[in-house]
Amino acid sequence: MKQVLRSAFTKPVDDVIFKYVASIDCDRHLVECDVRGSLAHAAMLEKIGVLTVKQAANIKRGLEQILAEGLMLRLEHEDVHMNVEKRLEEIIGADAKLLHTARSRNDQVALDLRLFVAQEQAHMVEALKKLCTVLTDKAAAHADVVMPGYTHLQRAQVVLFAQVMLAFHEAFARDMARLAPRLISPLGAGALAGSAIPVDPAFTAEKLGAQGFFTNSIDAVSDRDFAAEFIFACSLVAIHLSQLAENLILWCTAEFNFVKLPDEITTGSSIMPQKKNPDCLELVRGKTGQSIGELVNLLTTLKALPFGYNRDLQETKPPVVRVAETVRDSVEVCTIAISKMELNREVMRAASLDEYLFATDIVEYLVAQGMPFRDAHSKVGELVKTGKKFSEIPLETWKQVGINPDVVQLVNPEKSVEFRQSPGGTSPASVLSQLGKSKIEN
Ligand code: ARG
Repeated sequence: MKQVLRSAFTKPVDDVIFKYVASIDCDRHLVECDVRGSLAHAAMLEKIGVLTVKQAANIKRGLEQILAEGLMLRLEHEDVHMNVEKRLEEIIGADAKLLHTARSRNDQVALDLRLFVAQEQAHMVEALKKLCTVLTDKAAAHADVVMPGYTHLQRAQVVLFAQVMLAFHEAFARDMARLAPRLISPLGAGALAGSAIPVDPAFTAEKLGAQGFFTNSIDAVSDRDFAAEFIFACSLVAIHLSQLAENLILWCTAEFNFVKLPDEITTGSSIMPQKKNPDCLELVRGKTGQSIGELVNLLTTLKALPFGYNRDLQETKPPVVRVAETVRDSVEVCTIAISKMELNREVMRAASLDEYLFATDIVEYLVAQGMPFRDAHSKVGELVKTGKKFSEIPLETWKQVGINPDVVQLVNPEKSVEFRQSPGGTSPASVLSQLGKSKIEN
């Protein structure tokens, strides 16, 4: 195996070491980003007169051919950068040797990963938009469905199912804002100290469609904050997805029976023929661990690095690639699950008839009649202490605590949600306005 970059060495590097330091497994995801970076760099070299028009055109033609054909990375060339350079040489000949002028693999890889992150941010936002659309569609299609709302996973107050869908929409909308791409080009930083060749990093950045370029060449090659931020943003997406998945998993149990997950999204058991399991959602929940683990992985890699480029930074690439892929797949799975799930609206309504869900309504009714809140709370508490449903509590007991028993007749699930007119609350009017806002954001 002919090894690259060995002219100063008297012996070849040990095979085990060579394989260990190579990064082609992960770098195959970076071919396009690497070539795009090289196209911008070549254009800059032409602009500052390092490349002739002809040489630049030749390099551009070769790089575009690589983009069109794709590239299988070879271990002997160690990483994506050397693979692209070697392939370019095969295509265009000696002009390929000019491309690396005023550049190091250190600023090159810093750019490749930034381009990859920007691309994945855009893909993730696209996937989240679809999820947000199915959440609002589901909310709109079932705008009048009531269900018990839970705190501590105990029945608390009646809510509109639509509001629950929109609560998830809010979380994913925040995720999208966190994932807004921002690209700062590190190209022109060189190995760490800039270049004696009069490079024009602003021109390169503009060619790349970046928002700007680095201020400090040492920081430019070692900064991986953007990768940590991306994985953090993806981890929050994964966490929100796990919460969504967990609810669907609970709701489709025989115990809840609020939703049915159709055959297209459930999977079978090898022994129990009746089982239709929500495996895909359990995996959405389960794969959250990967994102959080990769965040810790990346942060640990960065911790206590001395300034400048260190080869540890090579290990910042795989977490980004893995998390981007897994979380995007999970978003897609949840999009399908939400759009395909069927509501058992009658079961949800029947569960909303649990009279204790109206305890707070009764308290708030008494408050509206002029009773101090704490007194109202404790009076209704005394009724709860009887252990009976409100409708089964004898008249004398109501009288003893000084509440008109008719109050319970006033309350049903639809009225209960109707009462909650406060901004952002669960009343139909409020949920409709939340829905309108969410649709605009989609
Ligand atoms: N393959 C390296 C990486 O992914 C880039 C090469 C930097 N190597 C070096 N010896 N400076 O980070």
